[in-house]
Amino acid sequence: MFNLGQSAPQLLTEIPGPASEWLAERMVAVECPAFEARREFREGESGTSQAPVVYGDGLGSNVTDADGNVLVDLVAGFGSVAFGHGHPRLAEVLRRQAESLWVALGDVYASEAKVRLAERLAALMPEPGARVMLGSSGADAVTAALKTAIATTEKPRVIAFHGSYHGLSHGPLAACGAFPSFREPFEPQLGQYVSFAPFPGLAGASSDESLAAVRAFLIDRSHGAVIVEPILGRGGCIVPPHGFLEELRALCTQYGALLICDEVWTGCGRAGSMAISLSRSLLPDIVCLGKALGGGFPISACIGRESAMQGWARLGGSAVHTATHFGLPLGCTVALTALDLLSEDDLFARSETVGTWFMLELREALVGLGVKRIDGRGMMIGVELDGGAARALAVSRRVLSNGWIVLTGGVDGATITLTPALTINQDLLESFVATLASALRAEKW
Ligand SMILES: Cc1ncc(COP(=O)(O)O)c(C=O)c1O
Repeated sequence: MFNLGQSAPQLLTEIPGPASEWLAERMVAVECPAFEARREFREGESGTSQAPVVYGDGLGSNVTDADGNVLVDLVAGFGSVAFGHGHPRLAEVLRRQAESLWVALGDVYASEAKVRLAERLAALMPEPGARVMLGSSGADAVTAALKTAIATTEKPRVIAFHGSYHGLSHGPLAACGAFPSFREPFEPQLGQYVSFAPFPGLAGASSDESLAAVRAFLIDRSHGAVIVEPILGRGGCIVPPHGFLEELRALCTQYGALLICDEVWTGCGRAGSMAISLSRSLLPDIVCLGKALGGGFPISACIGRESAMQGWARLGGSAVHTATHFGLPLGCTVALTALDLLSEDDLFARSETVGTWFMLELREALVGLGVKRIDGRGMMIGVELDGGAARALAVSRRVLSNGWIVLTGGVDGATITLTPALTINQDLLESFVATLASALRAEKW
């Protein structure tokens, strides 16, 4: 297993240092104003500076910022850098592919890498005949899944869950249950095709309440799919009760709707397996993968059972769903190597065992420090704080000033969300637990 880049933080300046500040100022002048507005809002909310650091380079679980400070990355590119920054095998295949062929011709003329990746992904489905649609982002995979639902069932509506996040392009945005504020300004441009059900474990909803709501929507037979994250990721690492997904499966089968499992966050080792839903007992109709599939390179996949994908054949006559860079050889070769690394380095088991150990350490060390909930699976862990978003921002800032990169998440922003590389050293995680505990002590609630 690639094990470089496992240093504790080494700080040369305050965080952010002068070079980060200078670059951030230039960035603010030219980037979308939403990001500066968010920073200002968060500063007002938390009473702490939210000035960004600027990344220089990365190795393993370390990021060196523009000032030369060595930081520890517990976010890993929103969970995509599952093998650590600068993995030599991934870098080498990218370099070799870059010297050979960057772009083939999408859906017209494939590359060999695309053929091999599609075969490999189709074989993940526990029954033969699966079909694969490649994309660049997680939102692309979800868009393909949503289109598949109407193409095959001819039913226009989709059920999604409060607390869920499926990406922000217009199709998935309509199904964004986590942050209505992301959706509402664009509502007039979005299809009004989504019904929202409660997610069990979020805002006190039970599995029975959630399933009853889904059933009530399905009864009129206008819904062609249920889209679900097997564990809410951006919604705060919320694990539904055992058996919930199986019950959803049964409801979808009963009412002729497709079960779409969005595993863009949970998949490719993050939650301890290739995908939580890819088992014979559950057998989803569609699984979406992204993020870690490219180890940080943008590539995603919508994998559908033969029966679910048949609608596309009926739409024949034109390539109704394609894009210039879908399935480009650069991404396909990286993804093939990423899949090799997951099994060669047994990262599924490592994610599960190290993640379980990490969660227990956090639970033990953070008792009495104003923590509401610590939950997750594998290397996706949410630490929900008392004191709401303001305290979570202040705590995350305090740990950043000590050299640890974390993000806040959850529907109300009160959760510290941890998605480190699957290869991170346990010693680093142990030091982080102590750093987080002292930050929680310092930021009262
Ligand atoms: C479950 C889930 N689906 C889809 C997406 C969208 O992925 P992307 O940001 O690559 O479009 C995300 C991103 O966080 C996600 O967590």
